[in-house]
Amino acid sequence: MYNMQRPIILKGKRVSLGVLLREDIPKVWLWYNDRDVRRYLSSPDAVFYFEDEMEWYERVKRENEKHRVFAIVENKGSSLVGIIGVHRIDHKNGHAEIGYFLSKEYWGKRYATEAVKLVLDYCFKWLNLRKVYARVYECNIASQRVLEKNGFKCVERLRKHVHIPEEGFADVLFYELFKDEWENVKNIGNNR
Ligand SMILES: CC(C)(COP(=O)(O)OP(=O)(O)OC[C@H]1O[C@@H](n2cnc3c(N)ncnc32)[C@H](O)[C@@H]1OP(=O)(O)O)[C@@H](O)C(=O)NCCC(=O)NCCS
Repeated sequence: MYNMQRPIILKGKRVSLGVLLREDIPKVWLWYNDRDVRRYLSSPDAVFYFEDEMEWYERVKRENEKHRVFAIVENKGSSLVGIIGVHRIDHKNGHAEIGYFLSKEYWGKRYATEAVKLVLDYCFKWLNLRKVYARVYECNIASQRVLEKNGFKCVERLRKHVHIPEEGFADVLFYELFKDEWENVKNIGNNR
């Protein structure tokens, strides 16, 4: 139970993006060390100590100009289900990278698709960026689908670039979405 009420930054139909609270970190730390979640994130072999996670939280807060990290919360019940971040924010060139993960128990409910939709609103309307990009491993079909449903296009492939435990070497795919493309996707209502 949280003692503190969570400010909601962007409200969606089934999930919303809110401020990540210090009290969230124990859960985030557990999920971040879950091998099934970790497998498709950077440094899949990494093991994170609780202090690393707290340090990460402090760094994100300190470097708020470079990163924005949000709690993804269910509208019904307000449970934390995952996190989504805007990283490498580059105002001069007008772009940033997004990354996200959800606790396994919430996979398959189309929550990530809606969280990406909300974070794109934030990137294009609030940060006024021109372009948003994401990096995905070729075996991470669910994440590719989440991006494609939001209008992203795969523009580059680094072949056999990373080692994924239990799977071997995998290609890294670069996905990107320009603001005008996003506006078109929104207008034709293609991002369900
Ligand atoms: C990737 C991740 C965020 C997806 O979250 P999610 O809420 O389950 O995703 P959604 O339900 O919004 O959408 C997943 C889509 O992929 C599809 N999908 C999932 N697994 C699939 C598979 N093996 N093959 C084909 N499609 C698949 C789903 O059917 C859905 O598409 P649909 O809406 O057209 O049916 C979640 O699995 C996760 O946290 N994974 C670990 C961390 C991670 O990989 N983060 C992203 C790094 S780039």
